[in-house]
Amino acid sequence: MVLLLCPSINDMVSIILNIVKENTMGEIAIVIGATGLVGGVLVEQLAEANHISRVVSVTRRPVEYAGSKIENQVVDFDNLDDVASVFKGDLLFSCLGTTRRQAGSLEAQRMVDLEYQYKVAQLAASQGVQHYLLVSSSGARANSRSAYLQMKGELEKRVRPMPFKRISIFQPSLLMGQRPELRFGEKLGSLILPLLTAIPGLHRYRPIRGEQVAAKMVQVSQQPGQPLEWFTLDEIFIK
Ligand SMILES: NC(=O)c1ccc[n+]([C@@H]2O[C@H](COP(=O)([O-])OP(=O)(O)OC[C@H]3O[C@@H](n4cnc5c(N)ncnc54)[C@H](OP(=O)(O)O)[C@@H]3O)[C@@H](O)[C@H]2O)c1
Repeated sequence: MVLLLCPSINDMVSIILNIVKENTMGEIAIVIGATGLVGGVLVEQLAEANHISRVVSVTRRPVEYAGSKIENQVVDFDNLDDVASVFKGDLLFSCLGTTRRQAGSLEAQRMVDLEYQYKVAQLAASQGVQHYLLVSSSGARANSRSAYLQMKGELEKRVRPMPFKRISIFQPSLLMGQRPELRFGEKLGSLILPLLTAIPGLHRYRPIRGEQVAAKMVQVSQQPGQPLEWFTLDEIFIK
């Protein structure tokens, strides 16, 4: 009787293989900026990707998702230390950002684009996240005269020495796609840039759709790469 209740060696092997499979099957992807132009579609694309077992969308307001692969974590970005364990996973996709107009001041914009993203990167690195993928901007430079490009460059500079196994930085130009609000500068850019980039030599500066940036990030996350790598403008368009 006792013998009948005991699993056979074959059963035991299957049980162990299943445990190993469940724990090695996929990676956990954390996304900040998950309701944005890039981040929103990125969450959907990651949920479809075979190498991802769970997507953690970290937002400041609740979001409902269909399907069990995506989990929403609502956090207070001013108190990220209190929710450090949310940033435990394998991959961190950082797509947070705002505009000076939306934030109300340059300082408030820096808080979102630079400080929140930096803090999350720190927490993720300390929780063992291996691969950090950041949406920065073309022209990002810590000593730029543009306040926007300066904050993007400063973030790149601050995250570079962090103990991730791999850091992938994406530097798109103008992002295109459907936004809930009108951004006058972007609208103007989306009209002018396509004309400018028709000029030979300037083609690589053409605007890019949010979903194309997301698709490149997903592609990079499932392929091997360099410990520190940048993807600039036309490298982000999937060939
Ligand atoms: N726009 C461009 O042409 C362009 C060009 C190059 C690079 N980039 C950079 O690319 C990245 C992604 O851009 P995107 O256009 O996809 O961004 P986006 O659509 O503006 O989305 C920004 C995300 O950040 C979140 N966010 C904004 N303010 C926040 C706050 N105070 N606290 C918490 N979350 C906040 C938003 O959440 P809510 O939905 O709750 O507001 C949203 O999820 C950004 O870093 C941006 O600077 C943009």
